[in-house]
Amino acid sequence: MKETRIKNTIVLSTDRKGSPGSPFDQKAAENALRFHRSLPMYKETKLVSLRTAAEKLGVKAIYLKDESTRFGLKAFKGLGGSYAVFRILCDKLNMDYRTAVFSDFMTDENREKSSEVIFVTATDGNHGRGVAWASSLFGCRAYVYMPAGSTEARRKVIEDAGAEKAVICDLNYDKVVQFARRQAEENGWMLIQDTSWEGYEKIPQWIVEGYLTMGAEICKQLDGDVPTHVFLQAGVGAMAGGILGYLSNAFAANEPVFTIVEPMTVACLYESAKAGDGSIRSISGDPVTIMAGLNCGTPCSITWPTIRDRASFYCACTDDVSKDAMRELVCFPNEKERVVAGECGAVTYGVLKEIIKDNSLKREMGIDEESIILLISTEGDTDPEEYKKIVNS
Ligand SMILES: Cc1ncc(COP(=O)(O)O)c(C=O)c1O
Repeated sequence: MKETRIKNTIVLSTDRKGSPGSPFDQKAAENALRFHRSLPMYKETKLVSLRTAAEKLGVKAIYLKDESTRFGLKAFKGLGGSYAVFRILCDKLNMDYRTAVFSDFMTDENREKSSEVIFVTATDGNHGRGVAWASSLFGCRAYVYMPAGSTEARRKVIEDAGAEKAVICDLNYDKVVQFARRQAEENGWMLIQDTSWEGYEKIPQWIVEGYLTMGAEICKQLDGDVPTHVFLQAGVGAMAGGILGYLSNAFAANEPVFTIVEPMTVACLYESAKAGDGSIRSISGDPVTIMAGLNCGTPCSITWPTIRDRASFYCACTDDVSKDAMRELVCFPNEKERVVAGECGAVTYGVLKEIIKDNSLKREMGIDEESIILLISTEGDTDPEEYKKIVNS
């Protein structure tokens, strides 16, 4: 294991174990995609080819999946929330998730049964917005709790998306998760959380499976191209682990090099990998970062084994890396390449740029003129005022 410090990023190179198989496979993705396609507002998000950037950085191609238009929620998170709500209601209404579609839930009888369900969740913003939206879609109710430091703008969009109530608590993210868990126990509500721990795995598993729709769309959109390098940003690592598992299965013959990217102040996957004993590590205290969705101190237990065994590199970077990438992504000369990428969305592009400036690191990661890089911009301007301040500064 080796740590390399470059300008605003630390990179950990690991001895990846590469164990075969992952629970986040083709079958799981097909089920999620089939459900999402049945939603009236479903539309594939774009896979943008950043040609100007690829040329400038000296690689063959950079593909960026742009989640800023997903379901009108400006982030990928609604994929997980909606699929979990669907699976929970399939169980409640005795429907087969492999064949049920959204319209099956719209009968008066089914809507009445669904209206009895009350969801509760903790969120940095995007997951809560997705759960609020999905709950109201199916006629359920949702209570959403947010950590200290969450902005009023992020709280309000959650209520606007359909939450009964969204509340900012005086607690850090991990503690808000525990608070939501207690609220569920005390009130008989259903906890719908995008991270897992021992004894709470089924619903997070469905949430991660929902994210796989992105993976399935990407594979189709790549149209035969195989990425050599995939950079995935992580909060708890549910999205990164799910997509990593899915893509490593999909490209098993030519597995890409996977890199996990986190904010420097709250790099819990980085620290877990660095500890080297296979177990997770948490970051305590009240970490601060502009990448709100990545401000999570404890890795997701169901996706950590996939990340641990399959990711080769971990990067922890400062907020400046993301800010710089946000500004660049939105002003490429060719309009087709311009992307509104929020704080969490832009960060992998920023890290890629930093790595490419360092020749020995670039060599170590095997990045050259034949490389095909895959990035996911996981959010657009989810906090429009903050976004404007950053890109205009
Ligand atoms: C926009 C965005 N990107 C990435 C993530 C990270 O996802 P995860 O917590 O599954 O690692 C989040 C989490 O909320 C997010 O909102």
